[in-house]
Amino acid sequence: MTGSPNGARDPETSGARGWGDTVLVDIEDGIAWVTLNRPDKRNAINPGIVWEMNAVLDAMEEDDRVQVVVITGAGDAFSAGQDLKEYFRDVDAGPPLARERLYQANSAWQWRRMMYFSKPTIAMVNGWCFGGAFQVLIGCDLAVAAEDATFGLSEINWGIIPAGIVTKSLAEVMSQRDALYYIMTGETFTGRQAAEMRVVNFAVPAEDLRERTKALADTLKQKNPFVLRSAKTAYHHVKSMPWDSAMEYLMAKSDQTKYRDPEKGDQKGMSQFLDDKTYRPGLQAYDRSR
Ligand code: COA
Repeated sequence: MTGSPNGARDPETSGARGWGDTVLVDIEDGIAWVTLNRPDKRNAINPGIVWEMNAVLDAMEEDDRVQVVVITGAGDAFSAGQDLKEYFRDVDAGPPLARERLYQANSAWQWRRMMYFSKPTIAMVNGWCFGGAFQVLIGCDLAVAAEDATFGLSEINWGIIPAGIVTKSLAEVMSQRDALYYIMTGETFTGRQAAEMRVVNFAVPAEDLRERTKALADTLKQKNPFVLRSAKTAYHHVKSMPWDSAMEYLMAKSDQTKYRDPEKGDQKGMSQFLDDKTYRPGLQAYDRSR
């Protein structure tokens, strides 16, 4: 498989399967590389991407070959945000119900479904990342960026506020000083700065982006998938709960997870540590094949 220098797939040469024509999906070794594919428009999110990404997420949840989903962009952009013409101007001129449906579908793939998606998700930010693209970025469980990728809350530069769920997303992951600075100035920041501000987990040289993202996905693949799902669901729920309720919820969620886990991971882990003494849980995952 070939890729562009920044690690994102080149749809012309990678052999990735087209999903419609605005999203490519390439499944390899348990990882679904999902590429927003409108490089000529810097992968701006138009209605086509919205509907296709919802279909792709459905398919990825059902596909047993897929353990981790990586979202990235073709060419030199992750995504330039919502498409100002096709998502805003054209849709604003149409029927209000159609607009509402599109906005709901966009929220679904960018954050609502992503938050509780049954498989781990990673945003691989290979280049330009503006406006609405932050919803995808923050909607993913984890994020890795090229050090020289360019991020920006450009909304202020064309006279709107970062809407959709962008401002809320920023408030979740950025400090108040950083969020307001970039919302109010519209200045750009690099992948390296994004890592310092914890907008992404880490940033790497562009040429290492794909390999480092794959290594992260490979780490996630070693974990019990049922427990991974419960862990992230629990995280999102307890964030807004008072402490006592959170503890009650977590104990119940933990019991539910142990009870429903098809792999019975807690028993395997405990016995491989305490009885077999074949691994140390502080340092690695138990052997899922035993
Ligand atoms: N919506 C619609 N079209 C977009 C777009 C967007 N968000 N971002 C880029 N495009 C289109 C441009 O109109 C241009 O189309 P054309 O070739 O038909 O004229 C094409 O993509 C390339 O854009 P261009 O500006 O020439 O590319 P660049 O590499 O010089 O600059 C950006 C890249 C991302 C800095 C610049 O395109 C830009 O500022 N985009 C808008 C970003 C933004 O404000 N997003 C917030 C949306 S919520």
